[in-house]
Amino acid sequence: MFPFFKSKPKLSELIPNDYVDIHSHILPGIDDGAKKMNDSRFLMNEMIDLGFKKAIATPHTIKNVWNNSKETIVETKKKVEKELSFESTKLQLDCASEYYMDENFVIQFESENLLTLKDNYVLVEMSYLNAPIQLYDILFELQLKGYKPVLAHPERYTFFHSKFSTYEELKKAGCLFQMNLLSSVGYYGKDVTMIAEKLLNNNLIDFVGSDIHHKNHIEFFKNKILIKSLDKFELAISKNVFFS
Ligand SMILES: [Fe+2]
Repeated sequence: MFPFFKSKPKLSELIPNDYVDIHSHILPGIDDGAKKMNDSRFLMNEMIDLGFKKAIATPHTIKNVWNNSKETIVETKKKVEKELSFESTKLQLDCASEYYMDENFVIQFESENLLTLKDNYVLVEMSYLNAPIQLYDILFELQLKGYKPVLAHPERYTFFHSKFSTYEELKKAGCLFQMNLLSSVGYYGKDVTMIAEKLLNNNLIDFVGSDIHHKNHIEFFKNKILIKSLDKFELAISKNVFFS
């Protein structure tokens, strides 16, 4: 009745029943997310409570930091499905990877098939300190190989904040953008929330992801959303059904 005064919903209230999460670190022991099987159990149960229908686990692949391969990821996912069979019936589990864009990544996709979110959609990230010098070359070569890059949390790369046009250039270079759900509640700070809102308002966000690593991330789903463009945010969330 008085929408102007209506208080903002909690992030948890915006998760639709058919929500497919395309970014998380819930597989145990292979990156900086869940450490043990029990952590995976906890996170999966929380995702179920939040109404997630499916979660695509995306452990980091960063050479010399998290030396994951298709095998380590797929085997760990199978182990989770076996040991957490109850949770896996409630939350459909799939796996891909969050690939760190550097020269090792280029060598990898030139020589083997990548784990994708669906079809040829590949989740990619970069350093939080600076963009790789060859960023546009990497994106070009990746697409030459037939992949569609989905850039994880573009709003978190603070070195792009002062030059917003870079986001438009990245879109023109073929990047799709996956915003983190927790950017809507200020988890990464107000600047990141502000840029997320600007990306939404400019229709630059294609998908969302939870990027859940641990319990604290779950806690923040209880927080009220801070961004004003609720309709644009809900639209972005609804687009994740593509990955059903
Ligand atoms: Fe991540």
